[in-house]
Amino acid sequence: MELFLPIEPPRPGRPRRVQLESALRDAVRTGRLAAGQRLPASRVLAEDLGVSRRLVVEVYTQLTAEGYLISRTGSGTRVSDLPLPPVTTAPAPPRTFERAVRWDLRPGLPTLSGFPRRFWKRAWTAAMDAAADSDLEYPDPAGHPRLRRVLAGYLGRVRGVDADPQRLLICAGFTQGLHVLAHTLRARGARTVAIEDPGLPHRAPILRQAGLTVLPVPVDADGVLVDQLPERGVDAVLTTPAHQFPTGAIMAPARREAVLAWAGRCGAVVVEDDYDGEFRFDRRAVGCLQGRAPDRVVYLGSASKTLAPAVRLGWMVSPAELHAELVPNKFLADHGSPAIDQLALAHLIEVGDYDRHIRAARNRYRSARQALEQAIARHNAPLRLVGTPAGVQTLAAQLDDTHPDQLTARARAVGIAFDSITRYQLNPDANPHGVVIGYGNISPHAIDEAIALLATLTFR
Ligand SMILES: Cc1ncc(COP(=O)(O)O)c(C=O)c1O
Repeated sequence: MELFLPIEPPRPGRPRRVQLESALRDAVRTGRLAAGQRLPASRVLAEDLGVSRRLVVEVYTQLTAEGYLISRTGSGTRVSDLPLPPVTTAPAPPRTFERAVRWDLRPGLPTLSGFPRRFWKRAWTAAMDAAADSDLEYPDPAGHPRLRRVLAGYLGRVRGVDADPQRLLICAGFTQGLHVLAHTLRARGARTVAIEDPGLPHRAPILRQAGLTVLPVPVDADGVLVDQLPERGVDAVLTTPAHQFPTGAIMAPARREAVLAWAGRCGAVVVEDDYDGEFRFDRRAVGCLQGRAPDRVVYLGSASKTLAPAVRLGWMVSPAELHAELVPNKFLADHGSPAIDQLALAHLIEVGDYDRHIRAARNRYRSARQALEQAIARHNAPLRLVGTPAGVQTLAAQLDDTHPDQLTARARAVGIAFDSITRYQLNPDANPHGVVIGYGNISPHAIDEAIALLATLTFR
């Protein structure tokens, strides 16, 4: 089709891309291009205007994100028949990173709209009713005895944790648990902690802040490469055996044995981050490492994925001697975690609402992951999901050679948020080549939309 778009030679402040975007926006706004009208193929328009095809694709993508255009595989790009976005007289926002997130594929988030508000309100009311006046004092720094008792039962039942309430510490999520543990290990003389590479970015600064040296160790499809752990000079290894973050590897049985044997030989501690152990989709989750060697493993868990990060409750089960040193450090950190919230969580678990919520959430995440896999196939996006289907995010290997930072930035510029693997790598030259996509906080329909748009941003 013919399409008249007034484009001038580029000049400072008016590059061709900006001109083409505003010419197309005006054409839609004034009705010159009617709803449903098909636009020329990007190659054709690029030839007509004497610009690169890539520029036209970027402009179509931008206007699709803004709601002016819609793009469907097989039927090309058309003018949207949805109500037009309001015209703003304010200066245009900066084009790229500040753009609002429209498709939230950030890793690490559970379904925030699925938070069990009704259950939590009921648990909170019950906690308030049951709380004695003495519960309003400074709380026990190890955690409220009732939550420790109830949680010990839950962790034993669901994750195979050897969880004596006397060795269980309640903390503000995994993050505070690691912080208190790092200071305690350092005070006991530890110097070096091995961590998985790639992994959660804030582990290394927490460990370093406590005066520890961090040793990155690569991971493969069976989990952390235990044979790369030195036999001397490493005091602990921090690992995510249930679901390696972010590669999605489940630690293989032989690796589990090997890491425990290494810790036994070297007198080291294994720190097990079981951050999403409840969410395995293909079969029953493998039990935790700590149950196999409670004298060598410190187990850390969190409500951040099972409920929401804002709850800020986590737990740590450790060998008795270490536990006795952790409690005073937790006291110094904050004088104890909020007692009413702890009582509410205890109630939630006791009446079965926590289990019910997790079962429903697991089904939702299973469907969301399937939707992601199907969308990638349907829109022919050059991505392949790797790792075991579990948790609320996945590593997606890239099948083209776009740099993951570039793909992430391009996606962010049109309102799609996910992470480049480089955000999680300590060794910048490390494999794999990919992006980390969360599916916890987005509907299957929105996943499909995001992947359709994303497929237009990669150039094969
Ligand atoms: C690997 C890993 N561990 C632990 C956590 C939970 O941290 P916290 O309990 O401090 O929210 C997360 C959250 O994103 C995570 O990705």
